[in-house]
Amino acid sequence: MIEISAGTGLVDESGEALAVPVFEDLVWGPGADWAAAELGEWLDGYLEEEDFNGKHGELVAVPTGGRLPFQNLFLVGLGEELDLERLRQAAGSLGRRASRTVDLATTLHQVDLDGAAAVVTEGFLLAQYRFDKYRSEPKPARTERLRYVGERSAAAAEAASRARVVVDAVMLARDLVNEPAAGKSPETMAGLAAEIGRRAGIEVTILDEEQIAAERLGGLLGVAAGAHRPPRLVRFEYAPESATGFLAIVGKGIVFDSGGLSLKPAQGMETMKTDMSGAAAVFGAVEAIASLGIPVRVLGITPLTENMPGGGATRPGDVLRARNGKTIEVLNTDAEGRLVLADGLALAAEAEPDLIVDLATLTGACHVALGDKIAGAWSNDQDGLDEVLAAAARAGERVWPMPLPDDYRKNIDSDVADMKNTGPRYGGAINAALLLKEFVGDTPWVHLDIAGPARWPDEEHYQTKGGSGFGVRTLVALAEDLAGSS
Ligand code: BES
Ligand code: MN
Ligand code: ZN
Repeated sequence: MIEISAGTGLVDESGEALAVPVFEDLVWGPGADWAAAELGEWLDGYLEEEDFNGKHGELVAVPTGGRLPFQNLFLVGLGEELDLERLRQAAGSLGRRASRTVDLATTLHQVDLDGAAAVVTEGFLLAQYRFDKYRSEPKPARTERLRYVGERSAAAAEAASRARVVVDAVMLARDLVNEPAAGKSPETMAGLAAEIGRRAGIEVTILDEEQIAAERLGGLLGVAAGAHRPPRLVRFEYAPESATGFLAIVGKGIVFDSGGLSLKPAQGMETMKTDMSGAAAVFGAVEAIASLGIPVRVLGITPLTENMPGGGATRPGDVLRARNGKTIEVLNTDAEGRLVLADGLALAAEAEPDLIVDLATLTGACHVALGDKIAGAWSNDQDGLDEVLAAAARAGERVWPMPLPDDYRKNIDSDVADMKNTGPRYGGAINAALLLKEFVGDTPWVHLDIAGPARWPDEEHYQTKGGSGFGVRTLVALAEDLAGSS
């Protein structure tokens, strides 16, 4: 675990490496002016050679050859117009580039932006995430100490300890998503939820298969019917006395999606251990919100099951009855996420929260529409949607609003039941959202389809390839906003 501390004035410091901000056209940021003056003209030639100009995304390591009391100088390009997300990304590039630096001092927190230290911490730590548990030769990042030096370093170190709670939650979610399905049965996931509850002082209730049946969660039960490993439903309840608002969050927790009897082709299954990313985001967010003591009541619900084609599996044409009594004809067993969410959303609505947010790797169609890095948002409530979009923007997660047209509802009309679980291919993500809407009643609700960004396709700034923990940061930011607004 990286130790984060506050150092002294920059000129009194020494060590292995120093990282400083540089703006476009080599405009020196705090600390960089000092370093450049110490290094003298020689630096100009070096940067010319390295083609470093201070643009956002650029980063260069300068071996100081004893001209500075640091062996290495990292110049971190911040470009022209800086915002928190760009700074987070730049810190991420630094975290990746400096992964072999044991002891790093930085002045990045001194740039002129409110909240700079928090996002620098987030970006830096998130970039050094590794999922190594199944490797014979793990190659973890070597950084042990990150030291904020110079002006406002004490405040930076303090902001860092808060940022770290969020980082830990994102990493928890990444770990869960990256874990192979064999290692994360619904039962194992529920066990982890109980542990989170103990750690963070949250009440956790776990329903086993019998209780799921007794509670009439027919969607979850129908999806679980084809799997050997039995389902669970986890309910987190965080209710601080000081709570000013009430947020419910529901996460799709398909620990593996084979498609069921409507079996996926081999390639389509390769990444389907990712299909519990919504639940992973709920696990992480609930822990962070409680650990930070954010004064908002939170109900977290995660239906957990696999979607398998066993002998008892739900068949195309079967009809399931969800928690709120509505019936769904299952025409394609691969459209299982909406079936388990139907129950999760109905349970959430029963609790009468101010807002329900669900997160789900729900449709390939959303992935096609928005690509790998942007989630789609559907809502029955403009204010709730605006709140989620604002929280996501602040957190640096990209979410785009999508339509929920009433006249498309007939796309999911069934010949035998209240609705069917598939519609036409076109507008597939909308058809899914319209089905979910049937289970929230009048409660303000926002649905986030995270099929794309739940899994990051490449190494990029603070993102690492694989499970991204998408949604955790948005949910924590949303909880903060809800706590602050009433
Ligand atoms: N988990 C998948 C959606 C998915 C696809 C997530 C790719 C991430 C990447 C979901 O359960 C699913 O299979 N959806 C089907 C629905 C269809 C059968 C109506 C899809 O999108 O193809
Ligand atoms: Mn599916
Ligand atoms: Zn799925």
